Amino acid sequence: MSSPIAIPASPSHAVAASMSPSQASSFPSPQMKVKVLHPVENVDLRLLLLENISQEAVTAFRAQGFHVDHHTKAMSEDELVAALPSYHAIGIRSKTKITARVIKAASKLLVIGCFCIGTNQVDLPAAAQAGIPVFNSPFSNSRSVAELVMGELVALSRQLFERAYELRQGVWNKQSKGCWEVRGKTLGIVGYGHIGSQLSVLAEAFGIRVIFYDVLNIMALGSARQVESLDVLLAEADFVTLHVPELPETINMISQSQLALMKQGSYLINNSRGKVVDIPALIDSLKSKHLAGACLDVFPSEPGSNGAPFDDQLNPWASTLRALPNVILTPHIGGSTEEAQRLIGEEVAQALSRYLDYGSTLGAVNFPEVDLRAMTQEQGDHIRVCHVHKNQPGVLKQVNEALSPYNVEKQYSDSKGDVAYLMADIADVSIEEIAKLRELISGTRANILTRFLA
Ligand SMILES: NC(=O)c1ccc[n+]([C@@H]2O[C@H](COP(=O)([O-])OP(=O)(O)OC[C@H]3O[C@@H](n4cnc5c(N)ncnc54)[C@H](O)[C@@H]3O)[C@@H](O)[C@H]2O)c1
Repeated sequence: MSSPIAIPASPSHAVAASMSPSQASSFPSPQMKVKVLHPVENVDLRLLLLENISQEAVTAFRAQGFHVDHHTKAMSEDELVAALPSYHAIGIRSKTKITARVIKAASKLLVIGCFCIGTNQVDLPAAAQAGIPVFNSPFSNSRSVAELVMGELVALSRQLFERAYELRQGVWNKQSKGCWEVRGKTLGIVGYGHIGSQLSVLAEAFGIRVIFYDVLNIMALGSARQVESLDVLLAEADFVTLHVPELPETINMISQSQLALMKQGSYLINNSRGKVVDIPALIDSLKSKHLAGACLDVFPSEPGSNGAPFDDQLNPWASTLRALPNVILTPHIGGSTEEAQRLIGEEVAQALSRYLDYGSTLGAVNFPEVDLRAMTQEQGDHIRVCHVHKNQPGVLKQVNEALSPYNVEKQYSDSKGDVAYLMADIADVSIEEIAKLRELISGTRANILTRFLA
């Protein structure tokens, strides 16, 4: 099932609703008529969408007046170097590598959209230094992961995969020994972020008691309870599920001593990152029957493509793990649903559109996050200056000197590492005057990119 992607022609309330209150405050009240902005210098914006990005996104971009070229496959570095110089924006998934060489060749490129969770495939510092923000969609699949964990809780406690596998082999093996309801059991959630907190709500609806451990103090949802340490959680929970990022301190955070603290007959679920669990230690714990089962969706090394083997060459313990009873192994499918893909498409398409037309970098992964309150239709001859520059002393003085003949209605600037970004709305500027302003601001020594929206 799919539904059309709505890319706002102007900052819409749908967009505001997906933002924090402070971000949402930059949007006008429903009574105000928002002025639709467009880049002054790039009338015909050209977008290159690779890796079969959703057709709804293509249609929505075209409806916005963008010229869109849509390809189903990824492009190699050489192909990108040849193709990108004529495009202003590119949308990719995880297979297209945007290297420093590609960025150097892409002289018109303004923005990169990663229609996926990760952004490792892009040289983020090189993009930032070229004045190119990169957008992704890190949390669109939280619900999909949380729902999968609910299924895994039941599947583990009913030995579902063992019984289903036996029957597929033609063996009828009905039994209740070692099979449990999840109702009344305790679920220990490690990492109470986007996924952990969603899961907390779903689990309580099943009558499960929820405790969680997080390095931050977080307001518990429903009747869930935050515990003071990982050790306390491990000792209390019947199911332990991991939802932390991969960080130096979370690598092997569940190893031999943590597994020993877990209750006899309890279960471990990992849908976070493969290196969070010391898998040889987990295998020992399962073999000794200290743990009654485990579910792993992520692994320290994962095959690069579908159909590739999951064997001992990839991970030296793979065949041992595959042979253990009541162990559910899945190929990193936690966030892989059609709904998550659609949300990713919507979120990234909106981010590209908001940057190209309104200059907003909210949500960019490599760039200072800057946005301004929308202009109204009454502000007909106002223009917006978007100035990306090197983060050096004296830049704002130079830019404000250039702007000094005009009334600066609003202005905001922020920096991230070597790159800074200033947005300013200027009143009563004719199109002819823009050329002079462009010359003055682009001519400053720290200039990386200056755009005008009107
Ligand atoms: N299996 C999949 O397909 C799939 C899909 C999406 C996300 N993920 C992974 O799931 C994990 C969680 O994602 P999320 O969106 O909920 O992330 P999030 O950033 O919203 O939440 C992570 C939480 O972990 C906490 N945390 C960090 N270090 C910790 C520590 N040492 N001990 C305890 N808590 C700690 C953070 O404070 C935060 O509350 C990530 O690793 C993500 O990559 C996997």
